[in-house]
Amino acid sequence: METGFCLLGEFEQQQRGENVGKFRIGIFNGDYIGPEIMAEAVKVLAAVGEKYRHQFDLVYLEASGEAYDKYGEHLPRITLERASECDALLKGPFGGPPEDLHHPKWANVEKGAILPLRKHFNLYTNLRQTRVLPALEALSPVKVDVVHGVDLLIVRELTSGIYFGAKQSRVVDGERESSDVEAYRESEIRRIARKAFEYARHRRGKLTLVAKSNVLVSSVLWREVTEEVAREYADVSLDYLHVDNAAMQLILNPRQFDVVLTNNMFGDILSDEASVLSGSIGLFPSASLGDSRFGLYEPIHGSAPSIAGQDLANPISAILSVALMLRYSFECLPEASAVEQAVETVLAQGHRTADLLPAGVAVGTREMGDRIVQAVHST
Ligand code: IPM
Ligand code: MG
Repeated sequence: METGFCLLGEFEQQQRGENVGKFRIGIFNGDYIGPEIMAEAVKVLAAVGEKYRHQFDLVYLEASGEAYDKYGEHLPRITLERASECDALLKGPFGGPPEDLHHPKWANVEKGAILPLRKHFNLYTNLRQTRVLPALEALSPVKVDVVHGVDLLIVRELTSGIYFGAKQSRVVDGERESSDVEAYRESEIRRIARKAFEYARHRRGKLTLVAKSNVLVSSVLWREVTEEVAREYADVSLDYLHVDNAAMQLILNPRQFDVVLTNNMFGDILSDEASVLSGSIGLFPSASLGDSRFGLYEPIHGSAPSIAGQDLANPISAILSVALMLRYSFECLPEASAVEQAVETVLAQGHRTADLLPAGVAVGTREMGDRIVQAVHST
């Protein structure tokens, strides 16, 4: 995809001689199913622009496979420069097929593009919400009476911990040894703990810290700092679970959770687990935020090479990423709710992409996008 501009809602704006908001959005199409699902997300964004009279300027940015082909690296400087001129970033999944993971095009996409992107923009707060929609309850691998009504938010630390700690590989006593260091500073815990308490305050007032303080000193620090921060939030109740128990409780009684605060590694694992409570990882967006309104919005799933190019992928994760961007970066709350409502309406009507079958009528990626666009216009 050529890097360039495209204006959405411009015609509408000229006609009315005004526009409510003007936002510049950096788009990473991503690999394999990425461009297919991002195209649907962009259609939905255009519908929101028309309906609510916003101007969304789209800047296509190159990273991962596309950038590797052109520049020989996964996240070129020029991409970061252009990204920093945007109000928010919307990203498709990065990564290659499992059988090609040693090919230089795909080896280290995570370390070469995903992690540096998060780090560069200091996006230390990662939000992953799991809501079990009534229309999809029956798809859950967990019993309907257990998942009914689940609405939980995982607040995952995203720019520190074992992902970014010192790494070492060496030979000791004639055998290979490798290590990754889990290190957190109290300031890194405090800033994300505050965010988690704020979210809990505006939801159901309950925060669960998840760590492993019976074994890890870094987890002891998470508990200490989070308990200190709790004193600023008398209206939020704080409890604590070890991560192994939390993984079990997510299946046994997921309704007990409101907001879950956890480190980078545990958040990665628990958010995949939580996502399938609702039936499919293909539904889930995430938001990554720092100290400003700037944010990165992306599906939590990968690039699914095996179904790419067949109009099979579920675009809802990318479409709901648009909703999160509208809410957190642009403070367009009615617009965000309209997108979420449109998704719920289309699912309630029984339309299903392949990942959501066997129940319902099968629709392709494009048709799902078109139906959600229509629903945005009619909400
Ligand atoms: C995620 C992904 C990434 C992560 C990978 C692709 C590096 O699993 O966003 O959850 O581990 O953070
Ligand atoms: Mg993950």
